[in-house]
Amino acid sequence: TDRYAVFGNPVGHSKSPMIHADFAGQTGQDIDYTAIEPPIGELAAAWQAFCAEGGRGANVTVPFKADAFELCDTLSHRARRAGAVNTLILGGNGRTYGDTTDGVGLVRDLAYHRVALAGKRVLIVGAGGAVRGILEPLLGEQPSEVVVVNRTAEKARQLGEDFADLGTIKGGGFDSLDGKFDVVINGTSASLSGDLPPLPDDLFANGAWAYDMMYGVEPTVFLTWAGPRGAKLLDGLGMLVEQAAESFYLWRNQRPDTAPVRARLRQSLN
Ligand code: ATR
Repeated sequence: TDRYAVFGNPVGHSKSPMIHADFAGQTGQDIDYTAIEPPIGELAAAWQAFCAEGGRGANVTVPFKADAFELCDTLSHRARRAGAVNTLILGGNGRTYGDTTDGVGLVRDLAYHRVALAGKRVLIVGAGGAVRGILEPLLGEQPSEVVVVNRTAEKARQLGEDFADLGTIKGGGFDSLDGKFDVVINGTSASLSGDLPPLPDDLFANGAWAYDMMYGVEPTVFLTWAGPRGAKLLDGLGMLVEQAAESFYLWRNQRPDTAPVRARLRQSLN
């Protein structure tokens, strides 16, 4: 039995053990996947101890994604760009390889729901670590333009600059918003506090989608706001399942079917 785990703090509510148990059952892989809660600042020691006990790979979640980035011997291109790692892989040589699957997870979830990105105008709200992590895969889908807006305008402007070589992207404050968008993605943590970013009422183009990277039993405040303004709605549950599927693929070289896991996870929220 190969061992895997999710490292987070707190980690008690993580859905990853359930998701990976489903993937393993589905693909007939003999793996054990647990949840581990290292003290803040002690991810590297916890990962080393885990490897010494037969650990082969891990997911890393809040607040350890930057620590995971630091501890890796080798990084994928997209992890380097993201400045964060959510997937650790122990190589045969004892070296640790780091990747990030969050952005691919988002793009796959959008594809699953047949949300087109190519040629579309995309707005991203927020400019923190979560948003930095999705920009490379998103720009790879060749939207006509990506606009990033953030409460702290400078952070959005910086992201626009950092990713300008990958496509048409610009960043600024909420006051710089103009025109309508085909896809609007909320990547802020504002919904955690029940806050709504200050967005104009006429934001959505015909047939537009509103996507919140967060999810919960109840729709987030952002989705609750977007529905009556004409957008079709998606929350981040599918992204969670798809990023897990990509991690599973990196470890086991098998692609699980995400559909039954989506359904089971949605049910388990209630
Ligand atoms: P994460 O890893 O979730 O991205 P983060 O790096 O702390 O966490 O980023 C949080 C994001 O949510 C930021 O874009 C933040 O805006 P600021 O950069 O201005 O802080 C945004 N955010 C958090 N609470 C918010 C609120 N109440 N209203 C608007 N934006 C908020």
